[in-house]
Amino acid sequence: MASEQLKTWTPSSWRGRKAEQQPEWPDEHALEQNLKVLSTLPPLVFAGEARALRRSLAEVAEGRAFVLQAGDCAESFYDFSADSIRDKLKVILQMAIVLTYGTGVPVVKVGRIAGQFAKPRTSPYEVVGGEQIPVFRGHIVNDDAPTAQGRRPDPSRLIAAYHQSASTLNLLRAFTKGGFADLSQVHMWNQEFVASSREGERYEATAGEIERAMRFMAACGIDLQAEEALHQVDFYTSHEALILGYEEALTRRDSLSGDWYDTSAHLLWCGERTRQLDGAHLHFLSGINNPVAAKVGPGATPDEVVKICDILDPRREPGRLTLISRMGTGKVESSLPPLQEAVRASGHPVVWVCDPMHGNTFTSESGRKTRHFEDVMAEISGFFAACAESGTWPGGVHVELTGDSVTECLGGAEEIAEDDLELRYTTTCDPRLNGRQSLDLAFRVAELLRAG
Ligand code: PEP
Ligand code: CO
Repeated sequence: MASEQLKTWTPSSWRGRKAEQQPEWPDEHALEQNLKVLSTLPPLVFAGEARALRRSLAEVAEGRAFVLQAGDCAESFYDFSADSIRDKLKVILQMAIVLTYGTGVPVVKVGRIAGQFAKPRTSPYEVVGGEQIPVFRGHIVNDDAPTAQGRRPDPSRLIAAYHQSASTLNLLRAFTKGGFADLSQVHMWNQEFVASSREGERYEATAGEIERAMRFMAACGIDLQAEEALHQVDFYTSHEALILGYEEALTRRDSLSGDWYDTSAHLLWCGERTRQLDGAHLHFLSGINNPVAAKVGPGATPDEVVKICDILDPRREPGRLTLISRMGTGKVESSLPPLQEAVRASGHPVVWVCDPMHGNTFTSESGRKTRHFEDVMAEISGFFAACAESGTWPGGVHVELTGDSVTECLGGAEEIAEDDLELRYTTTCDPRLNGRQSLDLAFRVAELLRAG
């Protein structure tokens, strides 16, 4: 079936299937006009870059590297500045340093950034002040303000999201290739509010050791200036491929290989709510040649997960498919091993990554969506245990974070309590780890990886 599907696939063939979680655009004509404009705009990423990420993920599939996928739950049209992009990149670079230095395993860095604007929702409507209004679906669709006007899906937002992605990516490329990510800058990535904390001091110690190691290599006569890998970082982008019209408009044929690539990001994933086997989302992802991923929650059966693999990875190629487990802390140890064993038996060389966030969300008494840092860590430990049981390489972690000192997730070394949530709760969607919690997580993941 899978190869049959490939023969009839086109960027628009998803339209013949049921697509869950699509907005009810009020004006079909305006939507088509905006999609037409999008289809004429330049690609955001290049096929060659997507292939490079596939090669790096193939290393993960073979147990020789680890993925760090991180960023906002939902990027915002309002919280968009050079500083916020830089601070997010800083914390991801810090985490990658902690993981690489602490384990000796290369870390593949993938942001939930430069395109992570669309959100799947449990219900299409919500009631505010007695009035039923459409739910917020991410700034690529509507506004988060809870008014009927604000929630009206506006297709010109597709173009705005494209342009914000382009500017974000431009800055990320400048930062990662233009000196900011140079290993000699490790100390600079520690932000002030983190530096004085226990995690921050631990990071400073690591950074100091790296500096000493570099001075040692220089003293041995190694020309550090000539080593490109010490001065630049490969940083990739990813988002949930949710609004299929947007993804279709940015899907282009690569002039070198003749293959289709979705040029909206390097890696695209399918969410837990849109992974129906006969649905439009898996069908769309099956035809693009980017590396792709699918979220797998506690309801997934071994048979279903193997079918997802057959659809997305019919040729059984390492690096093509990543499965992101998001089970919830109480379930991961029992639910995950049977899935991993079935996938291995089917011969699909997938990467297994742990999303410890989405299975552990709850609403606080004050009505804030939150997560407890200890639940997040417990799910990661459970994931490592599940991988050990099934003989699978724990390929990475997928987390929602920000560089800022927000108070959105409970616990951590600062012991953020329910009453503190109101202090700095700024996310547009799900609660994110702050800079200190993120760094703490990286140290603990490094320990788990070393212990394994
Ligand atoms: C997300 O990653 O923000 C998300 C909605 O995840 P999931 O599809 O796993 O619920
Ligand atoms: Co989320």
